[in-house]
Amino acid sequence: MSLDKETYQVIERSSVDELRALQLQRLKWSLRHAYDNVPHYKKAFDAAGAHPNDLRALEDLSRFPFLVKQDFRDHYPFGLLAVPREQAVRLHASSGTTGKPTVVAYTRNDIDVWAELMARSIFAGGGRPGDLVHIAYGYGLFTGGLGAHYGAERLGCTVVPMSGGQTEKQVQLIRDLEPRIIMVTPSYMLAISEEFARQGVDPASCSLRIGIFGAEPWTNALRAQIESRLGIDALDIYGLSEVMGPGVAMECISTKDGPVLWEDHFYPEIIDPETGRVLPEGEEGELVLTSLTKEALPVIRYRTRDRTRLLPPTARTMRRMDRISGRTDDMLIIRGVNVFPTQIEELILRQAALAPHYHLEIFREGHLDSLTVNVELQAGVEDHQARRDGVAGELARSIKSYIGVTTTVVVHSSSSLERSMGKAKRVSDRRRPTQ
Ligand code: DLL
Repeated sequence: MSLDKETYQVIERSSVDELRALQLQRLKWSLRHAYDNVPHYKKAFDAAGAHPNDLRALEDLSRFPFLVKQDFRDHYPFGLLAVPREQAVRLHASSGTTGKPTVVAYTRNDIDVWAELMARSIFAGGGRPGDLVHIAYGYGLFTGGLGAHYGAERLGCTVVPMSGGQTEKQVQLIRDLEPRIIMVTPSYMLAISEEFARQGVDPASCSLRIGIFGAEPWTNALRAQIESRLGIDALDIYGLSEVMGPGVAMECISTKDGPVLWEDHFYPEIIDPETGRVLPEGEEGELVLTSLTKEALPVIRYRTRDRTRLLPPTARTMRRMDRISGRTDDMLIIRGVNVFPTQIEELILRQAALAPHYHLEIFREGHLDSLTVNVELQAGVEDHQARRDGVAGELARSIKSYIGVTTTVVVHSSSSLERSMGKAKRVSDRRRPTQ
């Protein structure tokens, strides 16, 4: 099945012209499919005066209206389906923080394409048929577990469908079965590596060589920590349920320079989140994705709310995306300063005495918002008040000078902050009484 030593499918290395031609042909189909079969799209396209027949070039897509998360809520649960519900072979749902979950559906062919793209992703990450793959993304309504599972099986790997949680058992299975690849959120990888240490085993001595990490924002600083702790290559995989699940983009092990967008199935645009205007290539903004082949749930110009920028191709013909710096709705505005949790993560990881775990709390004092940064000491660091004060002062100073915001840093003892078993919850907004 593999076509050369580095690619899984021919299209990954086709010429740019071939790729653009394929995208245009598929985009025409996808717009037409959405318009003809989903009343919401017909109404929205008509209102915008944009008809599928008007699309002559890929750039014409910018004339079409956006799809937003609220549209999924308004048409809950099946109103955005472009096929009769009976033709969907699987549903997934993402919980979100408020209100109804977002339900997504897949035809048999959609599941097949997803498995192919995940197989392609694992291959790009260095996985090969015969590899043992430990999957610790949650199974169930979340797309992480089953998405990874079908892809690893499709590639011809031996799959351990462990799911999230039961951290002791995760470690036992990794020690006994000796997987070469792990697929898990980066924050839960940290918890698993701590469990290794708790059991008296150096995590770097385990069989793992490759980690395929995603589902939450993480920084290159955290990548470096995970790589040195576990002695692995840590790669970034991106995706979201509304657009498919994991495997929309995947970083190649040969270059490790940001996830390659699988552009034969998804067309990316970057927009200014305030004005909705498409930004010139290379500028940072909100990622907007259009599905080119999805049957059950076509998404046309879906606003992901993820902030990134498009980067030129390297290992593949397709464009890369930069690491997600955060979600537009995760951006904290503290006394007028915009702050992303990942910016703070980077500064925490520069402090050798601190562990890579943190939790941010926003409070309101009078009319002003304040930010508390909870961090903890690295295991083995001597814990006394003077040390804590010193570390807290240093971190607060570096946050002030790099990000420009005054924070209260609270240093906790080693292993005291809550560990995530899936997506880490980095922020608690204490300004609202319910949280
Ligand atoms: O998290 C799908 C997934 C599973 C991706 C496993 C990768 C691995 P949702 O639960 O719908 O789907 O959440 C999607 O998670 O819009 C991003 O904000 C965030 N996200 C996903 N991957 C990354 C990543 C899955 N590599 C939301 N870096 C997305 C940063 C990520 N954020």
